[in-house]
Amino acid sequence: LNEQEEKPLVVKADGLAAGKGVIVCNTRDEAIDAVNRIARDMEFGAAGDEFVIEERLYGQEASVLAITDGRTLVTLPAAQDHKPALDGDMGPNTGGMGAYSPTPLIDDATQRKVEEEILVPTVHAMKRSRNPFRGVLYAGLMVTPHGIRVLEYNVRFGDPECQVLLMRLRSDLLDILEATVDGQLSALQPPDWDPRPSVCVVMASQGYPGAYQKGLPIRGLAQAAEVPDVKVFHAGTTVRDGAIVTTGGRVLGVTAIAETTALAKLQAYRAVKCIRWEGAWCRKDIADKAIHP
Ligand code: GLY
Repeated sequence: LNEQEEKPLVVKADGLAAGKGVIVCNTRDEAIDAVNRIARDMEFGAAGDEFVIEERLYGQEASVLAITDGRTLVTLPAAQDHKPALDGDMGPNTGGMGAYSPTPLIDDATQRKVEEEILVPTVHAMKRSRNPFRGVLYAGLMVTPHGIRVLEYNVRFGDPECQVLLMRLRSDLLDILEATVDGQLSALQPPDWDPRPSVCVVMASQGYPGAYQKGLPIRGLAQAAEVPDVKVFHAGTTVRDGAIVTTGGRVLGVTAIAETTALAKLQAYRAVKCIRWEGAWCRKDIADKAIHP
């Protein structure tokens, strides 16, 4: 750090740190402080046994997922989620407070570029290194003024990206997953996607992403289910004494599909209004970045 030219950096604990091990630094002193917090003060425990120092990137994030059987790759439509807790992308980071698909950030040409330059080479590299991968490969991307950069890979569907993607999937997911397991993806027709946009609004427990209470009864799910073209995905719920109660921070993914992103947003919030529990909250601006880019 002392020898490098001063520039904005990100210092990350390399292990699992519940999404908290990333420190964004504007100056060299901040970066040195971050290294001390991770390596000397062990603020993130063993997750900081190794750490990485990366150039700080500026731009919007998008998620492009692919399903692969190790040889054939099926890229899913791009999605964008909202990681900060509060409207206007303010407040602490969360697992995702809402999502939409498609996103104006990734047009068809960019999507092809992501597939050809990022996803396909990654799957090939894993095969060449004798770690062939079968499953869902999730590329977390940053669209910067200098091009697309990969922030991270996950090997799962994203939450809440999954909700908007499944709303748009017309083919049978089980057929795709079975063909993936059997190494038969190339024999399958490409999935059929609904061209209409989908929007998911996450309803969360009071206090999330910090501490929150569990076991609160949820009302209005039946009314929400009557809103056309809406599906309420359960994330942090359970059944207690015959009633559906909260059991997580992100509780429900209220997801709509409609002719435009603006209409899908409207429909999702119409369903959100039907649902109540003590302290329930959500962001109010999901998908606005796509509606007013
Ligand atoms: N929504 C971000 C993730 O699932 O990682």
